[in-house]
Amino acid sequence: MRIKTIVAAITIIYGTTSPIMAQKTLAEATRGKFLFGVAVNMQQVKGVNPIESDLVAKEFSAIVAENCMKPQPIHPEENKYFWDDADKLVAFGEKNKQVVTGHCLMWHSQIGRWFFVGDSGKTVTPEVLKERMRQHIYEVVGRYKGRVKGWDVVNEAFEDDGTYRKSKFFQILGKDFIKYAFQFAHEADPNAELYYNDYNVEIPAKCDAIVQLVKELKTAGYRIDAVGSQAHMHMDSPTLDETENSFIKLKAAGVKILITEWDISILPSPYSGANISANFKYSKEMDPYRELVPDSVQMKWNKRVLDMFGLFLKYHDVIDRVTIWSLTDNVTWLNNFPIRGRKDYPVLFDRNNQRKSVVEDMIKLAKKH
Ligand code: XIL
Repeated sequence: MRIKTIVAAITIIYGTTSPIMAQKTLAEATRGKFLFGVAVNMQQVKGVNPIESDLVAKEFSAIVAENCMKPQPIHPEENKYFWDDADKLVAFGEKNKQVVTGHCLMWHSQIGRWFFVGDSGKTVTPEVLKERMRQHIYEVVGRYKGRVKGWDVVNEAFEDDGTYRKSKFFQILGKDFIKYAFQFAHEADPNAELYYNDYNVEIPAKCDAIVQLVKELKTAGYRIDAVGSQAHMHMDSPTLDETENSFIKLKAAGVKILITEWDISILPSPYSGANISANFKYSKEMDPYRELVPDSVQMKWNKRVLDMFGLFLKYHDVIDRVTIWSLTDNVTWLNNFPIRGRKDYPVLFDRNNQRKSVVEDMIKLAKKH
């Protein structure tokens, strides 16, 4: 019998938690270096699939909400908040002794249209928008004060070329909307860590713009603890060098680094960003691994995971957390982004909720650092 079959048989008989299967987890292997987290969905929090909930609880030292704390789900209408899901998620993390972080307070995506529309149906004035931001941030951060370690205060304020994204926030308030958001978050929970979060942080112009923002915030006396690099990666980009250079720049700017949404798509990509409104047409050529991933491709993906993870370990003095963007290949957002209906394999657990072989190699690598 092949080893894999034996392991699978033991897993079925005893479950992954049996003493026979007691293995070190990535969270244990990285303890003292950085937190090892995962983005969770509500099915996992509610135990709809107990195997997934169990894996989230056991394998990770931190969790973040994949969706339920974003502006639209948590604040669908003016003066109407929906707390049930976020309350459950925070309680789930506490029960499992995990660090809970908040994603995200101000973002141009997944925010109710109402946020930018005034009574007359016209775009709100700067004063009204600022006051809505204050209320939203005070309510959300205030509710979880002392329970959520830190917040992605602003998500994705820059374009890849380093210019400010022309979001509604920017159009109405200019770049100062970022300062207001950090100020309100700090007022709502003075002990919470505050983060700026973005994708493609490895692009030099974008990284430079983020460093400049960090400097401006610090000089003006605002709290900012870390920059979150989403790290939605592809097979060939970003390169290790590009990634390392972004770490060097952020470290020099005097902030911690968080790898907030790590995944490595194994599929060809028509697009290198993570702006969630991007959408491209399906074709078979863009979805080549419906039946299986060829060994050569799998090996290349494994190497890429290990190379990147090795780099994260090398910078563990400044990297506080590495979070995987979803638990299994079954539930990853990349099956539907930026093309709907594909089969991607970008995370560390497979479609049968099994650890991929690369995890053992990651654990070994963590021991060496
Ligand atoms: C994604 C979620 O994974 C999806 O379930 C949702 O439909 C869209 O958003 N950058 C972010 C995350 O900051 O919030 C996004 O999450 C992925 C890109």
